[in-house]
Amino acid sequence: MNPILENILTRRSVRKYKTEQIADLELESILEAAKYAPSGGNSQSWHFTVVQNTDKLEELNQWVRNAFSNLVIDNTMYRSKKAGKAAAANESYNFYYHAPTLIIVSNEREYSNALADTGAALQNIFLAAHALNIGSCWINQLTWFCDDIPVRSMLTSLRIPENHKVCGAAALGYIAGNIPKAVSRKEGTVHIVS
Ligand SMILES: Cc1cc2nc3c(=O)[nH]c(=O)nc-3n(C[C@H](O)[C@H](O)[C@H](O)COP(=O)(O)O)c2cc1C
Repeated sequence: MNPILENILTRRSVRKYKTEQIADLELESILEAAKYAPSGGNSQSWHFTVVQNTDKLEELNQWVRNAFSNLVIDNTMYRSKKAGKAAAANESYNFYYHAPTLIIVSNEREYSNALADTGAALQNIFLAAHALNIGSCWINQLTWFCDDIPVRSMLTSLRIPENHKVCGAAALGYIAGNIPKAVSRKEGTVHIVS
């Protein structure tokens, strides 16, 4: 099979990581791949904040747990967010799965392609990581809570620009245990008009 296609088909979301940090050169390659993603009108207005400091990551986790505890649930709420509240009540909850690296991707608040551009950059991050045998997972909690006051003040201390919102994040690290099996893909999502 074409190696690029094989890389796409074999990438999985990884939720168990070794504590060992990824190599600086690997991180550099992954960030380079991120920056080469397409962006609307070539705006490249994204920002990649790489957090590798365990104390800061733990502190961020505590603020995310705090935000979950203040979250008022209603019937229309996205189910992962509802499930997150229950999970975060547990002392052992860690939203980034104790990955040694978290790349937070932010973009300008008012920019209409903010999420689309970030999605493209994050997918490049995941595929580059996989090509280097590094596990990765999309982490969404900071997109939900980036306007929560204590979370935002921590994000500001990490130098995420004030006029940015968090659009997604990537947990990265060497994989502990087996690579998870692919979840089956839904049928009927393609329609070819010839
Ligand atoms: C927008 C988006 C948000 C996601 N948020 C999370 C998350 O917060 N935590 C998590 O463990 N996985 C998250 N995921 C990963 C999905 O659960 C995963 O991609 C899906 O189950 C398919 O599995 P695969 O990535 O192994 O193919 C997210 C994926 C996307 C695209």
